[in-house]
Amino acid sequence: MARRAIVAANWKMNGGLALVNTIVSGLTSVKLQDNVDVVICPSFPFLSELTSQITENKLNEAIHVGAQNVSAHESGAYTGEISTQMLQELSVKFVIIGHSERRSYYNETSVEVADKISATLKAGLTPILCIGESESERAEEQTEKVLASQLQPVIDEVGIESFANIVIAYEPVWAIGTGKTASSEMAQETHKFIRQFLAKANANVAAKISLLYGGSVNASNCEELFAQADIDGGLIGGASLQVEQFKQICSTAKGK
Ligand code: 13P
Repeated sequence: MARRAIVAANWKMNGGLALVNTIVSGLTSVKLQDNVDVVICPSFPFLSELTSQITENKLNEAIHVGAQNVSAHESGAYTGEISTQMLQELSVKFVIIGHSERRSYYNETSVEVADKISATLKAGLTPILCIGESESERAEEQTEKVLASQLQPVIDEVGIESFANIVIAYEPVWAIGTGKTASSEMAQETHKFIRQFLAKANANVAAKISLLYGGSVNASNCEELFAQADIDGGLIGGASLQVEQFKQICSTAKGK
């Protein structure tokens, strides 16, 4: 079965109404290849407006709205948190979970990440599970151990079969926002490891899962990255704030 490519825009704490307007008008003319989904993840306050504008402007059905985080709790006294049900009401389809910025600045552990993945799956939303090693971990040849330690708690909590409904984004921390992209060979080698790691638990699920690369992806390097056998698209930070560049990245992706 064909594997879908996904290009997801993680705006982080950037952009607002003006960027929603610009991205929607830019994406009205985007040319997408077969088997590609595009996901735009603005900050929470702009999800509703993005959803409305995508509908009003009749954008390609492959263009979806995503959130950057979610609570693992269903509802209750969790001031400042956002539940999966609230996201559902806003027609959100994807949720970024376990981004390295959340793991490092907000101390999210892999067990908390697994709880959020579980809540997201229960709500019928697609989690984009982020994993990745730091610069020192790569230097110490700990990359595979770190990735395994980030994946295993999720496998233990939701079961490998649930990975049929999960997207994984491999984002080496040292490549995020630094302009230092992993070489396409290095990214491919790591993606291959991730697929093989999952295949030990379920080969069928591993063969079908979309594995995105993130970390300084731009219009110039995306073609080579997306051409790699185990890279099924990207999670784009800085370049997703520049609409023409982002459109070019979206047009480059194709399913495998
Ligand atoms: P940059 O593309 O800005 O390096 O960010 C990558 C990222 O963290 C996406 O989630």
